[in-house]
Amino acid sequence: MKIYNQSPLPFQGQKRNFVKAFREGLKDFDAKHTFVDLFGGSGLLSHTVKTVYPSARVVYNDYDNFLQRLNSIESTNKLLDRLRIALAGYPRKQQISGQLRADVLSIVKEADVCGYVDYITISSNLLFSMNFAADFEALSKETLYNKVRLSNYEATEYLLGVDIVRKDYKAVFNEFKNLNKVVFLVDPPYLSTDTATYSKNSYWKLKDYLDVLQVLVNQNYFYFTSNKSQIVELCEWISTVSATANPFANAKRNAHVTSTSYNSGYVDIMYHYKKPHNNNE
Ligand SMILES: C[S@@+](CC[C@H](N)C(=O)[O-])C[C@H]1O[C@@H](n2cnc3c(N)ncnc32)[C@H](O)[C@@H]1O
Repeated sequence: MKIYNQSPLPFQGQKRNFVKAFREGLKDFDAKHTFVDLFGGSGLLSHTVKTVYPSARVVYNDYDNFLQRLNSIESTNKLLDRLRIALAGYPRKQQISGQLRADVLSIVKEADVCGYVDYITISSNLLFSMNFAADFEALSKETLYNKVRLSNYEATEYLLGVDIVRKDYKAVFNEFKNLNKVVFLVDPPYLSTDTATYSKNSYWKLKDYLDVLQVLVNQNYFYFTSNKSQIVELCEWISTVSATANPFANAKRNAHVTSTSYNSGYVDIMYHYKKPHNNNE
């Protein structure tokens, strides 16, 4: 099976920096477990489980319909081919203006009229880092840059053998919570993170983040957060002033420092927890 260490298409919040640590953490479990990726995003965690345990059942909750983007790779590549021709000889990373800008936009518009355009991928090829346009209208208002990738996108075998569902995470959790030998992969949108590229861009409030913690109680899990969210600190504090147990109390912690051009940096954190052995399992 082909191994991807990052999502085959641009995806904000993908866990590429944790692939190594996640693979390591998976060794605490085995192929008899069912792995349920509640906030599947780009599917990178589901894919990684399959590369470690090819025979394990892996359920990928594709809430954003990333599959549509994967299935459209051929047309995305064709569109990029046309953009490469239009931009041939034009310096890379340079702003595109005037007639060339009009030509680039008309190529995208034509593709849009003919069918589906993966605007997240097109954005990462034409916009400044971390800027995304959801549709043609938004794209046409942005400053464009020649960031068109020189090679085509490719996702062969990426989700091979993975079961795909598309539901609210609570519904998926309820379906699997009583299963013997289940591991939940819990990577919700981060508190105070831009979620504009996610399909249902409804604003996640503190209550929503706290609700997610309920899926960790008495379950095997991998949970991803960042020091920006302070959820872990909140849980620690609550457990010191009340009888409420801290869901991270006995979990293993793995951190990855990310630096951004916008601020000095933040720490992404992965916790994972394996329940004490139960003879019935
Ligand atoms: C941080 S991303 C997950 C990234 C993923 N682990 C990866 O490596 O690509 C969080 C995902 O949760 C999705 N999401 C938001 N609300 C959700 C909900 N109620 N149920 C399930 N998924 C949801 C977002 O659309 C986004 O795809």
